[in-house]
Amino acid sequence: MMAEHVRIVEVGPRDGLQNEKTILPAAQKIELIERLAETGLPSIEATSFVSPKWVPQLADASEVFSGLQRKPGVAYPVLVPNLQGYERARAVGADEIAVFTAASEAFNRKNINAGIDESIERFLPVIERACADGVKVRGYVSTVLGCPYQGEVPLADVVRVAKRLHELGCYEISLGDTIGIGTPGKARAMLKAVATEIPMSAQAVHFHDTRGQALANILACLEEGVRVVDAAVSGTGGCPYAPGASGNVASEDVVYMLEGMGMPTGVNLDALVATGRWLSTLLGRPSGSRVNLASKQS
Ligand code: HMG
Ligand code: MG
Repeated sequence: MMAEHVRIVEVGPRDGLQNEKTILPAAQKIELIERLAETGLPSIEATSFVSPKWVPQLADASEVFSGLQRKPGVAYPVLVPNLQGYERARAVGADEIAVFTAASEAFNRKNINAGIDESIERFLPVIERACADGVKVRGYVSTVLGCPYQGEVPLADVVRVAKRLHELGCYEISLGDTIGIGTPGKARAMLKAVATEIPMSAQAVHFHDTRGQALANILACLEEGVRVVDAAVSGTGGCPYAPGASGNVASEDVVYMLEGMGMPTGVNLDALVATGRWLSTLLGRPSGSRVNLASKQS
């Protein structure tokens, strides 16, 4: 494979912390984001302006975002489900947002209380406002390799939703295996199908590691040409509305694999491991990163 740069989108402060039992105080969330920025990560999803009733772990989104010392050159996207979320995000100066829907109707209803088309309708004014305000918009499609409620998800549905978000103005579409159910062949086929409608340069992959397949899936997707990978420090997180979904693939493990393959990420692995270790201590649980656990022993 060509020695090409891979951009890692760190989602630990959002996807990671939204599903942890321990709710960190805002000051520690801020410290986490600032430490992650110091490792060289180019994009850190900082928090989520969803309903605090739905995700109490991130109810302090405004306090966290406004307390951040943002590092120049680093992007700090935030999750936004509707106009109310957009206004909250803008009030504290967010300049990149992520909207999120799914390829499965059933999952979308559980997660955001709306069907797929209805959720996209909801995003229209959000994306319109974002474009007018010069705010970048990323788009997520969840359950691209299977759904906890519906089971199989037809590829055509993944392609349709990804294409729609791209057409609406999302600069990048993150394809999420929300419940970590996919295997490399399926991941590759999904990416190929999406590439028939949107360029590979506008695709990102987002794997949860529920069944230990995430790194293998990422490798298959790299071979297909994807160059943007979502990951969460210390393998934190999951979606509270996806039963059985465990943590994201650990950022430390992704960086280790990529650097080992000669694909630079710009991330200082030692600093990332140290941050992951600090976070695991705060959360009171072992790290979900194998690289982290191994480096503890050595
Ligand atoms: P709803 O109950 O249908 O919303 O929820 P509503 O518009 O009827 O409003 C109900 C109440 O929520 C009202 O308050 C609103 O003001 C309030 P009340 O009058 O009852 O006091 N509300 C809000 N408050 C603050 N900020 C807002 C907001 N919106 C409404 N933005 C809604 C619909 C979308 C709001 C809700 O379902 C929700 O917040 N869902 C978010 C669920 C979530 O965050 N899931 C995890 C993220 S997705 C994920 O993890 C997958 C991903 O990682 C990719 C992958 O792995 O596949 C991205
Ligand atoms: Mg996720």
